[in-house]
Amino acid sequence: MAAPCLNGASVLSWRREQLRLGGAASALDWLLDLEGGISWQALQQLRLEPNSTVNLAVPLERLEAIWQRHCNGQEPLQYLVGQCPWRDLNLRVAPGVLIPRQETEWLVDLALHTWSQHSRSNGPQLWADLGTGSGCLAVALARAWPESKGVAIDRSAEALQQAADNLAAEEVSERVEILQGDWWQPLQPWWGQLELVVSNPPYIPKAVWQQLDPVVRDHEPALALVGGEDGLEALRAIASQAAEALAPGGWLLLEHHYDQSDAVAALLRSAGLKQVEAHTDLEGKLRFARAQAPERP
Ligand SMILES: C[S@@+](CC[C@H](N)C(=O)[O-])C[C@H]1O[C@@H](n2cnc3c(N)ncnc32)[C@H](O)[C@@H]1O
Repeated sequence: MAAPCLNGASVLSWRREQLRLGGAASALDWLLDLEGGISWQALQQLRLEPNSTVNLAVPLERLEAIWQRHCNGQEPLQYLVGQCPWRDLNLRVAPGVLIPRQETEWLVDLALHTWSQHSRSNGPQLWADLGTGSGCLAVALARAWPESKGVAIDRSAEALQQAADNLAAEEVSERVEILQGDWWQPLQPWWGQLELVVSNPPYIPKAVWQQLDPVVRDHEPALALVGGEDGLEALRAIASQAAEALAPGGWLLLEHHYDQSDAVAALLRSAGLKQVEAHTDLEGKLRFARAQAPERP
């Protein structure tokens, strides 16, 4: 089917028709932009000039089929189009791997800020990303620190394949090693040398996950979301070996649930880390923790 050239009035009328199926207008506009090639600005322009024409990147039938699957089966649009814009990247995503969230973008900024605040070098010699998923954090850090080596860890083989694809697409594969395993365990050869480690681990309590919107609960991997009964299982495991695995003075940066800040700080302190700090997301919620390994005598 050829990609059509349509006038504004017919695109807007098609859009109204689709919204009768359900779904959010912002989601449909996201689909029109990413898959249809009509940006939000172009859509506004069509409203002002409904007789003007626009070229769609794909036939309307394709957009309609995706929208129906999204509305009827609650499938995430990112999986259906196979991509997800995140920071300045356009990441590939597929079922079996968590769709990167906007709030996690802040973990990259916190990592870059931490390094520039405390070191004069251009980046850590060795950094790691625990639970890399799509590889979003690893790709962003590898691009920001071209002279550093990174290691990206995940237990899921599907996630590691996706991370490998995203690292390759951004041409940073040679700077990031990918290893399968449980948190710090695959990093054992480098214990004591890791200068900065980021992690966005699964942290949703099981009972909260059971109540999540089906678009998340029924389609995104539970391994990426559920942190056991209290949500803290992965955070506990990561905190417990951090002082040993990090380089002396090395940094650990974690994302967590909005109500876990005190619990995570307590875990980090009792694991022997120092300079434990809570950091807010853009909405002012305490969603991140930062801590430093002690200098060894
Ligand atoms: C919340 S997702 C984060 C993915 C990605 N870093 C992001 O921010 O979008 C958590 C990731 O941790 C991985 N994971 C879960 N348990 C793990 C374990 N025991 N060891 C290593 N990775 C694990 C999951 O497969 C998932 O990819």
